[in-house]
Amino acid sequence: TPRPRIIAVDGPAASGKGTLARRLARHFGFGYLDTGLLYRAVGLRVLRAGKDLGDEAAAIAAAGAVTAAELADPELRSGPTGNAASAVAKIPGVRQALFDLQRRFAAHPTDDRGRPLLGAVIDGRDIGTVICPDAPVKLFVNASLETRAKRRHKELLERGEAIIYARVLEDIERRDEQDRSRSVAPMAKAPDAFEIDTTGLDADGAFAAALAFIGSRLD
Ligand code: CDP
Ligand code: CDP
Repeated sequence: TPRPRIIAVDGPAASGKGTLARRLARHFGFGYLDTGLLYRAVGLRVLRAGKDLGDEAAAIAAAGAVTAAELADPELRSGPTGNAASAVAKIPGVRQALFDLQRRFAAHPTDDRGRPLLGAVIDGRDIGTVICPDAPVKLFVNASLETRAKRRHKELLERGEAIIYARVLEDIERRDEQDRSRSVAPMAKAPDAFEIDTTGLDADGAFAAALAFIGSRLD
């Protein structure tokens, strides 16, 4: 059997990586894994257990217990859960506990009914650098801090969260800094990744830029 074709998509919070990744997965008929949801699920488990986010043993146990079934919980998309995700994501044991699950999806991508597919789009912070360093296509999606904060603020308001723009901007800035500076698997653009700045691009524009880069790289 041929090696699965992998598109690795990394980038900071609310840059548009999920929107692009989903669209690429649909276009190519590939599976899609949003790895941010895994870290969000760990953070949410720790919060719901009433544990401190710095409690490494609690976070590692939570990471070991995460299942695919809980990734549909709407609470995973909340602002507090995003901040909790970043806090637990810097714990090496948490990343290690989620590693096999991600590698398995990359090696045997499936659709949401578990049927095998020829490739996968995986998005996160360390996909091109750590999870799939051999991916034939790596994208790094970015946008200005203000653009990203505006987008996320709109989403959180639509979810019914009462939060002001300045607070969203502050949360995203702190989370980016934490994700960039941690010692294990920091957020980074792989040297061979193609950067797409979506500051002035809508979803169609980002998709077109990605397709132009992908060209024949998946053949
Ligand atoms: O959607 P957004 O970009 O705001 O966040 P996310 O992709 O859902 O990720 C939430 C948090 O999980 C990030 O701030 C990272 O701390 C962490 N994460 C990570 O460390 N590694 C990944 N591959 C994906 C997410
Ligand atoms: O996955 P990530 O957190 O990087 O971002 P996303 O969920 O794909 O996008 C965050 C928000 O920005 C969503 O509401 C998208 O509709 C919007 N977006 C946009 O306005 N322009 C883009 N080029 C991509 C996304």
